[in-house]
Amino acid sequence: MDHTPSSRLYPLFPSESGSSVAIEGLYLNAPLPTGSGKIPWVYANFVTSLDGRISLDAGVGCRVPGTVANPRDWRLFQELAARADCLITSGRYLRELAAGCAQDALPVGSEFTDLQQWREDQGLNPHPDVAIVSGSADFRIPATLREQGRRIWLFVPEDAATDALRRHQDAGAEVAAQFPGRRVTGRQLRETLGALGYARVYSVAGPQIAHTLVADGSLDTLFKTVRHRIIGGEPGAFETIIEGPGLENPADFRLRWLYFDPGEGPGDEQQLLRLDRVTG
Ligand SMILES: NC(=O)c1ccc[n+]([C@@H]2O[C@H](COP(=O)([O-])OP(=O)(O)OC[C@H]3O[C@@H](n4cnc5c(N)ncnc54)[C@H](OP(=O)(O)O)[C@@H]3O)[C@@H](O)[C@H]2O)c1
Repeated sequence: MDHTPSSRLYPLFPSESGSSVAIEGLYLNAPLPTGSGKIPWVYANFVTSLDGRISLDAGVGCRVPGTVANPRDWRLFQELAARADCLITSGRYLRELAAGCAQDALPVGSEFTDLQQWREDQGLNPHPDVAIVSGSADFRIPATLREQGRRIWLFVPEDAATDALRRHQDAGAEVAAQFPGRRVTGRQLRETLGALGYARVYSVAGPQIAHTLVADGSLDTLFKTVRHRIIGGEPGAFETIIEGPGLENPADFRLRWLYFDPGEGPGDEQQLLRLDRVTG
């Protein structure tokens, strides 16, 4: 048997041309899919350390640490939100928001007026709609979501408490789907949002929803910013991009693009990847 590995490599960096592009507008102007038929294109984005951490325990739950987060990635996160018809968020996020310890408001952030304007120029609401996914319906919907003109969709269990549902409906939410047990599947999420007319759906949630989407092939694209920095963390006190049972069939992704961002120098370097799910 021939054990010689494939011997062709692609030297992506340093690049021979030495050409560069601006970060601002990179994801805003990139051609992106819109799904097909009634199945939306679903994507997620994570910033990670070199050792794969997306968040560390901060005493009030896990947070993206300041040693990994940075304004350039934040801009791209917002640009991806500007491209979405609908965001996916979680019940946990809304509980943290109500407790005053969430990372930030849902995008598009108030400081990104250019992105809100860009959406308006495309005939869109300045803010994408929101799908809230929860195994309990135990959260509060902030008034800002309705004030921002978003439609708010609920994915909650069949046995969700009636008074909780009424409260959410009073806050402007509509039930998109109710599912048996505590876990909606990626397929149900995707198909329901497609049937509601959405073509581009952006998960801004964390590793559990990423697992839900990846497990049954419902995540089409993963955007990943990898900061060239190792941050460590005690076992159980950090999160990675996916959390849940091992995948019987590993999910394979194909590199669509890779940018090197030198930042302000060592410690600030990162790479920006777009990875598309391999299907079939
Ligand atoms: N570094 C990064 O780029 C990045 C990006 C995003 C998030 N994060 C981090 O990830 C962490 C968690 O984020 P997150 O809470 O938004 O997301 P998450 O861990 O994906 O979602 C957690 C919650 O979502 C609900 N949920 C998840 N899968 C479900 C399913 N299949 N069916 C029904 N409900 C489901 C549950 O809500 P209920 O508890 O209400 O049942 C669960 O508690 C945070 O620490 C955040 O900072 C990091």
